[in-house]
Amino acid sequence: MNRIVTLDEFIIKRQKDFPYASGELTGLLRDIGVAAKIVNREVNKAGLVNIIGEAENSNASGDTVQKLDMYANDKLIECLKNSGECCGIASEENEDFLALPSVESKSAKYVVVFDPLDGSSNIDVNVSVGTIFGIYRRKSDTKGKVQLEDFLQKGTELVGAGYVVFGTSTILVYSTGSGVNGFTLDPSIGEFCLSHKDIQIPDRGNYYSVNQGYYLKFDVEMRRYIDYCSDLNLRLRYIGSMVSDIHRILLQGGIFLYPNTRKFPNGKLRLLYECNPLSFLVEQAGGKGINTKLERILDMQPTELHQRTSIVIGSPGMVDEMKAFVEKYSTPTPYVAPTNGATTS
Ligand code: AHG
Ligand code: MN
Ligand code: MN
Repeated sequence: MNRIVTLDEFIIKRQKDFPYASGELTGLLRDIGVAAKIVNREVNKAGLVNIIGEAENSNASGDTVQKLDMYANDKLIECLKNSGECCGIASEENEDFLALPSVESKSAKYVVVFDPLDGSSNIDVNVSVGTIFGIYRRKSDTKGKVQLEDFLQKGTELVGAGYVVFGTSTILVYSTGSGVNGFTLDPSIGEFCLSHKDIQIPDRGNYYSVNQGYYLKFDVEMRRYIDYCSDLNLRLRYIGSMVSDIHRILLQGGIFLYPNTRKFPNGKLRLLYECNPLSFLVEQAGGKGINTKLERILDMQPTELHQRTSIVIGSPGMVDEMKAFVEKYSTPTPYVAPTNGATTS
């Protein structure tokens, strides 16, 4: 029988691989792991208690019932506040960023961005949801409070990112820039155990993932590419929680697309909370993540916290192919004036 490696053990071992690491990032990752277990507990009993449903609803005993994504948001903030390694957070659920007070006068140097519960429309129907996070080193002076510039960093500046999928089992996947590893929660011992070592995304896969219901609202080159996927008999899978779709693609290969639509001319998904952390992980596993202007997601300069972007992400061979489609169909064929007496077809 293989020896079980827990998440904590793995993180500490990895820290030893970096001789000058101070342990702060290690501590932060462990605290995120703890928050994930707490959220997992609530997600698993969502059908049993009145935690599902709209925020500010009252339950039978008149208590205020909190929506699960707000609960996840609060728990993450609480864990990060207590950790002492994080000086600020920005969340999909909060309009502004939050400066965290220092713990025991320690000047923390990391900020964390997160989507506390991705795919929240799936909660009430028992379909996978997840938490996505990204970690940056702050830019501003550690003597003062965090500033907006600490959060508006390009994805290339991420020092770590990860996600947790609350699915048929609960899995935490993370990277600090040297490969991607996955840990499955063993509920009998309450520990995340290494289950997916050094994840490598296949060059191609059999799946494409897009909300095909918006087909007519996509640009022509996207429609052509989607037709092509269909012609190849690729299997369409779209969960409605990007984190779960990306998890499948990381393990089995494929492509995920959320292009511009008429309703969301700049794409719907959030650059800071969804696209950057997931692109970081996919790239770490050998994949690619670009927008429909064919720019690398991680190279995009964020200008606001809740910035949206289009995204095409997944197996490198498939993203390259989509890129070729866009280049082909969005370049108008140059007009060549007929020479005297010549005919054009
Ligand atoms: P969230 O639940 O955090 O708001 O994110 C939902 C996102 C993403 O996870 C999913 O792929 C997409 O929105 C679904 O959007 P459509 O229903 O427009 O396809
Ligand atoms: Mn989301
Ligand atoms: Mn969300």
